[in-house]
Amino acid sequence: MKLYVLNGPNLNMLGVREPEIYGRQTLLDLENYIRQVCERENIEVEVFQSNHEGVLVDIIQSALGNADGIVINPAAYTHTSVAILDALKAVSLPAVEVHLSDINERESFRHISYPAMACIAQVKGLGFAGYEKAILMLKEYLQEKN
Ligand code: DQA
Repeated sequence: MKLYVLNGPNLNMLGVREPEIYGRQTLLDLENYIRQVCERENIEVEVFQSNHEGVLVDIIQSALGNADGIVINPAAYTHTSVAILDALKAVSLPAVEVHLSDINERESFRHISYPAMACIAQVKGLGFAGYEKAILMLKEYLQEKN
């Protein structure tokens, strides 16, 4: 089983960026956490981060034939990107959307998610643990499917 884990814009600023919302741990800490969870669960993983919508679309497209599922934190593109929604629909791989913060408890413009319309679930407000939850959900989903 292999997963792609994608992080969108400004998540490379974790640790510096609004620590009262996102905490003091860095993207490297998050990527190490994801790798540890996947190693424990016997899942192969590739992690990506980009600040660019088109690059995220390219990575999602490249998952086809290379990964069994996708964990994605589209960050600000969550609330704007039909392109990321369409890419997820195009590859038709099971995907789980993750947010470190609880987007429903924040400004109203964060309440809408386009990519979530192509995801089997959305996990929010759990910090790093949300990625673990998303990975476990995909593992269970893929095991049931096969
Ligand atoms: C975020 C929530 C988004 O609204 C925001 O634009 C982000 C991070 C989260 O992980 O909580 O950049 O996706």
